[in-house]
Amino acid sequence: METLPILQASLAFLLGLALLLLFKLGRTPSVKPPPGPLGWPIIGSLLQYPHGLTPQALTDLTASYGDIFMVKLGQLSTVVVSSPTLAIDVLQTHGVEFGARPRNLLFDVLTSKGQDLVFADYGDHYKKVRRICTPPFFSGKAIQQCRQGWEEELTITMDTMRQLPDAAMSGIIIKDHLQMLMYSLVYRMMFSRRFSGPEDPLYMEIMRLNANSRQIIVNSKKNNRIVNFFPCLKPFLKSYLDEVRSANRKRLTFFKTTFIEGLIKEKEGRAKVGVDPILDAHAKGELSDDTVLYLIQNINVAAIDTTVWVMEWGVAVLVNNKHIQETLRNELDSILGKGIPVTEPDLARLPYLQAVVKEVLRQHMVIPLLLPHQNLKPAKIGKYDIPARSKVLVNARGMANDPKYWKSPEVFDPTRFLDANIEMSGNDMRFMPFGSGRRSCPGMAMAVVVLSLALGRMVQEFELLPPLGKVKVDMKPAGVLVDAHILAEKSKVVLKPRDT
Ligand code: HEM
Repeated sequence: METLPILQASLAFLLGLALLLLFKLGRTPSVKPPPGPLGWPIIGSLLQYPHGLTPQALTDLTASYGDIFMVKLGQLSTVVVSSPTLAIDVLQTHGVEFGARPRNLLFDVLTSKGQDLVFADYGDHYKKVRRICTPPFFSGKAIQQCRQGWEEELTITMDTMRQLPDAAMSGIIIKDHLQMLMYSLVYRMMFSRRFSGPEDPLYMEIMRLNANSRQIIVNSKKNNRIVNFFPCLKPFLKSYLDEVRSANRKRLTFFKTTFIEGLIKEKEGRAKVGVDPILDAHAKGELSDDTVLYLIQNINVAAIDTTVWVMEWGVAVLVNNKHIQETLRNELDSILGKGIPVTEPDLARLPYLQAVVKEVLRQHMVIPLLLPHQNLKPAKIGKYDIPARSKVLVNARGMANDPKYWKSPEVFDPTRFLDANIEMSGNDMRFMPFGSGRRSCPGMAMAVVVLSLALGRMVQEFELLPPLGKVKVDMKPAGVLVDAHILAEKSKVVLKPRDT
């Protein structure tokens, strides 16, 4: 009988020890993850955020946890930072560690696990393809070589719009024309090829292939949770991923047969084109067949849609802010002379135009969280530990519109950029529409030139007005996307030709 209390005491001691061990194991005291919802085993916070990080979820989580939070969605940890200091950590101080890109199952297929530029991990392959693409597409020299062609395209676009009977009456869908313009600018740069108009068979074929690719991404919504949150369930998506692979192959083959094969065959005796350095690197064995095509695809996607989205916001803003449109027009008329089309060398002496472009990019940062970054190994942001292979997002648009850093950020006011010399090259984390550091946008210089020329020419040539029967262009953003800030509806705008 006397042994009972001893037994009880021993059991209590062992239980206590076990609990202590469990507690210790569960909480390694040296690891301090960012704050965030606790989530359930396996599914994380998917019950709370079934559609992932939507704009609303982003707003709610930032309000609850502040400048850094981590949310686990299925297998994947997503970290969002929203302060300049933490952004410096991710993009600059620890830029190499956070220099990879997370790819979901879809993008693994579309890029053969990062054999392109945009989705490549940060390493030798990435450095090589960026080095090869810089002279023809991202350098100042490339802009100087292309700019006259771009200026010609702008004249063609302005003349085309001027001749449309609806343009000065009920209004036209401006995006269709800006898109046509951007395709011609980029294809001239890559292949010295332009499109004669929306009925150009080649343009129509590219549009058809793009629509197909978009459809596949839309279809991915039904597979969204597995694609994004449970990559371990990949075997269940075999037929869907095969469909993606085959559609992508069709698109790549189209580029190969339509553009590349001819250029390789006629290499001797033809004029140089933008993709030549890529073809030369391929001929030397530096790039695989597929990487050549992925790079062409990257430039297509990265350069065209982004710039068109910003142009569309820019036109909408100018329609809705008549006094700003007039101030801009006055600057162009007084500095260049009425009827003298703005060209690239003029841009340096047009401070208000530069300020308008910056303010459009500040309020309408079209890639609001930059492209996702990833750390392949455990890493640190500020005092927090970030598990390996987290998806790390920088809330650039949040910072560019935060009243902590900007006076009345909701007001469209280009003069804020005249009063203070705020650059957008990635040194000021409050304003980095093109990112910052190693993975920042290499096409920034081209984008800024093209945006400035397009908005400048539109204002020189036309009075930009709301469509018939409306007092403003509807500026509602598409509400469901967290990775792209775009207009919900394509804007219709009246273009009243100015007397020259
Ligand atoms: C990446 C914005 C135009 C090529 C990016 C990133 C942003 C961005 C935010 C990601 C930065 C990061 O993850 O830290 C924009 C905007 C544009 C534009 C707002 C137009 C207004 C262009 C143009 C080109 C281009 C014209 C090509 C000539 C690229 C490429 C990347 C990239 C290749 C991937 C860089 C990498 O992963 O290292 N862009 N971009 N972009 N952009 Fe742009």
